[in-house]
Amino acid sequence: ERDSRVARIDAAIRVIPDFPKPGILFRDVTTLLLDHQAFKDSIDIFVERYKDLKIDVVAGIEARGFIFGPPVALAIGAKFVPIRKPRKLPGEVISEEYTLEYGTDCIEMHVGAIQSGERVLIVDDLIATGGTLQAAIKLIGNLENLSNLLQFLS
Ligand code: PRP
Repeated sequence: ERDSRVARIDAAIRVIPDFPKPGILFRDVTTLLLDHQAFKDSIDIFVERYKDLKIDVVAGIEARGFIFGPPVALAIGAKFVPIRKPRKLPGEVISEEYTLEYGTDCIEMHVGAIQSGERVLIVDDLIATGGTLQAAIKLIGNLENLSNLLQFLS
């Protein structure tokens, strides 16, 4: 049975055709943020889903994962880690490149922000091709593989 809150959330997200390019139907979550009840419900639904799953870290993907990730992190007692576009983070980073329709893109995370063995929840506003999420999983997964390898070698 569909959560009745979802209908209000759905209605609050504006859909704009042909943005940023012809043929793309853009889901604009800024209008969800203007509806206090719908915004709160969207956070509450994630909190209910993840609060008992022993999540250590919420990783938010730039840019809109920075809007929805932190309130979820605070409510479930987790840390928040930003996953950013290239050359934004000042410290040492690990990077993951991924393929777009034309060319490539890249996401980065600070070294040491997530420790081996920590349970991570990745938050973003939406999935289109899944390329960004897949890169985020690889970025975080590689870190674990690397530290597992280092543990194995030591
Ligand atoms: C959008 C969206 C996701 C991603 C989904 O971000 O917020 O992060 O695209 O697309 P995918 O599943 O095909 O990878 P966008 O590229 O607009 O970047 P921005 O949030 O920094 O504007």
